[in-house]
Amino acid sequence: MVKGAMQLWLRAIITLLILIITEGHPVDITYLQSAVAKGAVCLDGSPPAYHFDKGFGAGVNNWFIQLEGGAWCNNATTCLARAKTRLGSSKLMAKTVSFSGILSNKAKFNPDFYNWNRIRIRYCDGASFTGDVQAVDPKTKVYYRGARIFLKTVAGTSHIEQYYGEVVNTHGSAKNLPQSCTSRLKPGLCFFPQNVAQQIKTPLFLVNAAYDSWQIKNWHNCKLDILKCSSAQLQTIQAFRTEFLKALNSLGPSSTRGYYINSCYAHCQTGTQETWLRDDSPKLAGTTIAKAVGDWYYDRKRFQSIDCPYPCNKTCKNRNFESDARRII
Ligand SMILES: *[C@@H]1O[C@H](CO)[C@@H](O)[C@H](O)[C@H]1NC(C)=O
Ligand SMILES: *[C@@H]1O[C@H](CO)[C@@H](O)[C@H](O)[C@H]1NC(C)=O
Repeated sequence: MVKGAMQLWLRAIITLLILIITEGHPVDITYLQSAVAKGAVCLDGSPPAYHFDKGFGAGVNNWFIQLEGGAWCNNATTCLARAKTRLGSSKLMAKTVSFSGILSNKAKFNPDFYNWNRIRIRYCDGASFTGDVQAVDPKTKVYYRGARIFLKTVAGTSHIEQYYGEVVNTHGSAKNLPQSCTSRLKPGLCFFPQNVAQQIKTPLFLVNAAYDSWQIKNWHNCKLDILKCSSAQLQTIQAFRTEFLKALNSLGPSSTRGYYINSCYAHCQTGTQETWLRDDSPKLAGTTIAKAVGDWYYDRKRFQSIDCPYPCNKTCKNRNFESDARRII
């Protein structure tokens, strides 16, 4: 009894601390019980879930939809293991999460979208979505964030191709991938955004760090601090950037597309206040991510910018996979 109460207090204190650290506000979970009968469930059979924060004022009819990330499971063994985590079961998800950055409800922290309806859809089936797409008003414009854009791992393309092939087979994903892509390529390849982005008619904004810390998460020292990478590792990282930019270029020119490719060593940059908008946030061409995305969304200014290679820009935050995971809680 006493132990239970202690645990509750501890959890409350930790939640409060995280809220203070992230400058966010708490948003409670909603379980979608009615989806169970339709077979739309998490890996362990629990109902899907989301966190919803209602819009207000002029933003009451606008929607910001965030699809939570979390990679994939590629076979029965890895899916079973995942079912025992928050990425495979709504029973294990935090009841309350902190909304900050592009999800913040304060004009100071999120000037262009603060009063919109904001929803974070939790990811728990191991394959359906992976945080690539976040939609600012899905009817009109879409913006992408995150590392899985143009994904290639340092282990090489063939490894990731095989891996996606397994994901497709395990989950029967082929029928849900865009036909415009599966008619041309193996379905596993249609997980690569450079193979589908051209078919998306809705204007896109791409936010991605050219040095994605997730891609090198197995390099223990290096993943926490780029300064600790060996020169051979740095060479691989620079080659990764080159490949990434090649894939981005393969989309061809577009006047409606925006992109913000900074030379930061980061994985997620829009959902955390320190990288989205603060006095000391990363800047590219003198512009924060929040300003670039807002200007693009409201047609105030085009933004298509790629930073020079590391270590040219000093405005980056050394953000890594662990601290992003902590913030998702
Ligand atoms: C499942 O996938 C993992 C990760 O790729 C791999 O290590 C493992 O051998 C696979 N297991 C089976 C049974 O195929
Ligand atoms: C690097 O940061 C500075 C300071 O914020 C910024 O003005 C500059 O545009 C950035 N460099 C590039 C190449 O964008």
